Amino acid sequence: MDCLVIQGGNRLRGSFPISGSKNAALPILAAAILCEGETTLRNVPDLHDVQQMCALLNRLGVSTQRTEDGALHVRVEDEMNCHAPYELVSKMRASVCVLGPLVAKRRRAQVSMPGGCAIGDRPVSLHTRGLAALGADSDLVNGDMVLKAKKLRGTEVFLGGPFGSTVTGTANVMMAATLAEGRTVIESAACEPEIVDLAEFLNKCGARIEGHGTPRMTIDGVASLHGASHSVIADRIEAGTFAIATAVTNGETTLLGARIDHLTAFVDCLRRVGVNVDKAEKGISVSSARRLEPVDLTTQPYPGFPTDLQAQTMVLLSLADGNSIITEKIFPDRFLHVGELTRMGAHLRKEGPTVIVQGVKRLVGAPVMASDLRASAALILAGLIAKGRTTVHRVYHIDRGYESIEKKLAAVGADIQRVAEAAM
Ligand code: EPZ
Repeated sequence: MDCLVIQGGNRLRGSFPISGSKNAALPILAAAILCEGETTLRNVPDLHDVQQMCALLNRLGVSTQRTEDGALHVRVEDEMNCHAPYELVSKMRASVCVLGPLVAKRRRAQVSMPGGCAIGDRPVSLHTRGLAALGADSDLVNGDMVLKAKKLRGTEVFLGGPFGSTVTGTANVMMAATLAEGRTVIESAACEPEIVDLAEFLNKCGARIEGHGTPRMTIDGVASLHGASHSVIADRIEAGTFAIATAVTNGETTLLGARIDHLTAFVDCLRRVGVNVDKAEKGISVSSARRLEPVDLTTQPYPGFPTDLQAQTMVLLSLADGNSIITEKIFPDRFLHVGELTRMGAHLRKEGPTVIVQGVKRLVGAPVMASDLRASAALILAGLIAKGRTTVHRVYHIDRGYESIEKKLAAVGADIQRVAEAAM
């Protein structure tokens, strides 16, 4: 197992090449189950989660092949198997995205129900409720969600939950509705750019989706879908993570390929803190050379402030000149990074779904433990500015969602290395 060793204090300067979006690529890969013929995907990041999704697709009779030019070629070879087993789904929750495509195309799906998660309670009842509304019979057998349908029929589906819309729930119902008879209207649909990218891919495959990117989406079912070529959007969460890396080190960088229009609430927050963020010819430019202002933020469904940038932004605010308040409205328990950041000298007080961040002059290096994908990114950011050395353990969490993060950071001046634990 590896860990990351970081010597803090270097200002970051240069360019970050932003990879394709993990959270767009995963449902798009699952959507290939719906298509006849070959699909060619470009800008798909080389991540553990993508490899995991490909392993699941292979198990479901779908071939996946990455060619030298980096393209991923996906083709349905055999539709016999409809079972996504526990040993695969338990490794990656986004595996649940095969549920809708399987029941729509193969009329049957047996998918292990995702279990507990480090970031909090994550039920999938909205997914099964939406698919049941389209006519699927749904049952839970030995921990597997078993869905069957002679035929899916379009209908009105309300997908709002206690914390607002559901991203992968919207993806599952939207994908299934593409092959349902008649029109489906999804109310309280998720509006994330990853949902828009999935809809645009499906429309290239012959689907008839409208209203994607708004809370009301309509899908007119078609008899079949064909393969298509598609390039996945840039990863806005990776871009946001590197924007904060720049800000906390008083650096100056460009996020190549990043879309500023996908990060409106986040960019607004950074500007209120005092960070310069602008659209650049090839992406987004970020610089910071002044003291940081405290702000209050609340995570919300898109276009609100993304929960996947909450932990990273907490590192930034831990250095602000005053008190900030962070409220987590999507995953109220998503605070496993708080204890580790406190070990590095941050002053954080958690009260239910809120953390009061009292700004400090500096952080100090320490050995810390990653717990989930975005929390581990936050620990790396804290290591970049901490006095002395930080060792981040369990970096397998980071490899799930960031492509070669230490190489990208080192290329702009960070002192960071990947080391085998055994060599420590
Ligand atoms: C997606 O997860 C992302 N994952 C998550 O990113 C992200 O944090 C999340 O959306 C919110 O933006 C992928 O796209 C693969 P949700 P998802 O269903 O779809 C509740 C990362 O770091 N809910 O939109 O699983 C749920 O508990 C990951 O890359 C129900 O109550 O999230 C949560 O509170 C982590 N019932 C809220 O809705 C349901 O049936 C939003 O969850 C479904 C969800």
